[in-house]
Amino acid sequence: MNTPALDAAWSAFDAVAVRDGEARILDQFAADPDRLSRMSVEVAGLYLDLSKQSWTTEAFDACLNLARAAGVEARREALFAGEAINSTEGRAVLHPALRAARGAAFQALGEPVSAEVERIHAEMTDYAQALRAGRETGATGRAFKAIVHVGIGGSDLGPRLVWDALKPLSPAIDLRFVANIDPRDMAEALVGLEPETTLVIVVSKTFTTQETLANAEAARAWLSAALPADGLDRHLIGVTAAPEKARAFGCARTFAFRDWVGGRYSLWSAVSLSCVIALGPEVFDGLLAGARVMDQHFLDAPLEANAPVLMALAQVWNVDGLKRGARTVAPYAHGLRRLPAFLQQLEMESNGKRIDRDGRPVTRGTCPIVFGEPGTNGQHAFFQQIHQGPQVVPAEFVIVRRTHDAVSESPLWANALAQGQALMLGKTADQARDELLTSGAEPAEADRLAGHKTFPGNRPSTAIVLDRLAPEALGALLALYEHKTFVEGVIWDINSFDQWGVELGKVLAKAILADAATGTPSPMLDASTAALLKRLA
Ligand code: F6P
Repeated sequence: MNTPALDAAWSAFDAVAVRDGEARILDQFAADPDRLSRMSVEVAGLYLDLSKQSWTTEAFDACLNLARAAGVEARREALFAGEAINSTEGRAVLHPALRAARGAAFQALGEPVSAEVERIHAEMTDYAQALRAGRETGATGRAFKAIVHVGIGGSDLGPRLVWDALKPLSPAIDLRFVANIDPRDMAEALVGLEPETTLVIVVSKTFTTQETLANAEAARAWLSAALPADGLDRHLIGVTAAPEKARAFGCARTFAFRDWVGGRYSLWSAVSLSCVIALGPEVFDGLLAGARVMDQHFLDAPLEANAPVLMALAQVWNVDGLKRGARTVAPYAHGLRRLPAFLQQLEMESNGKRIDRDGRPVTRGTCPIVFGEPGTNGQHAFFQQIHQGPQVVPAEFVIVRRTHDAVSESPLWANALAQGQALMLGKTADQARDELLTSGAEPAEADRLAGHKTFPGNRPSTAIVLDRLAPEALGALLALYEHKTFVEGVIWDINSFDQWGVELGKVLAKAILADAATGTPSPMLDASTAALLKRLA
């Protein structure tokens, strides 16, 4: 909702963007000796450096002023108080309750939830310990050796990232993920597995998702074909906010979570049961502990030293101040290779919106396109565009000092630092020409090539450094991104917790599936879609 203070804050933001939009980042370090300390934060095993963003000190202050005027502090209180901040669905949004300390007293719409959270956490821990110790076995008495986690979107991306990042911490059990409705995904996941020693965990908040149900049916058939008649009960688990649907499907044992856990914010819940089992409850608890530290920091730190707030402001400055429509995320750690995919859902499903909380069209940019790859791979693919393309794409480098052994991963972090430096410094045409001449080129050749070897520079980046790829640091990193996404939504005045934009395609897919069964396109279909359907049916 617009207030005079908010309008004034946006006007000041726009004015400073016009005035300082072209300012050279490098010059700002000389202009403000405190720039690095002002624009960096250390919290929960993470170090964030936002000093290579394209903001002057005045722009930075205008962004902070905007956050205050938008009511970030009051909205933050509302989130933690369990108010119905998901206004279109009338739901609280309480993922912090899932990682709170024992004895917390969170409430969703006034209903206490913490006791139930602790009960389910204890059930998961007991089950995981029993299974890891071989007390909980398969139907034929053999210990479980593998888990197949079936889910998609928020019921897949978080646990998959956690597993990738932490599996070198001596996992006891093999864990495979299946998300794609293409049967090849399931077929590949099952290679080398035996039904007798495999646990299938079907994860779906709604338990209505077409892809997940199709994959769950395939997994159930694979188990049933090999197990004794009542064997499924020990091999097929449901994790869901609709336990009655999971039981109807055939999951005798279910682990529940509530509708105040958004799908893309759900990795802290039973959605990560597969990781709790495969990595061990203590690893999962480390993840929760790290996120808890970030929650407390988000609640307590003043806005100017608040990591999620500063990250959000850098994004708002880039999108609305400098009109940049994309951001690339480059993790410099193989274990974080799925981070860009996780962030695509977290940020684009949360904030890819064009209607504000009052139902009016937004007048400013909201979520940019988020894309990325592990940094070293990206460098040999799309970084050409980031360095020399006409569009400026802000970059985010997520750097891990040590992965899981004691060795400092210098080839990784040295590359990350070099990329940030190259983006900021660039290379002038004169420098490029001099280099060519020094390396023996004829003057005409140097003139011809200098433009191609010029880098405009002054391209912004953020660095996030994790000392170790440990459960606590990973938990803090993911909570950082969650709160960053929330703050952006507050500033853009949108509901970050619904996702109506995914619904239309689901409905149309059902109609097309019905047509595919008969092979005859409905007369309602447009000529293009009808021709495609005929070709494919
Ligand atoms: O289609 C989008 C979506 O609803 C996401 O928001 C969600 O994470 C995903 O599908 C999976 O949904 P579910 O957990 O209900 O299967």
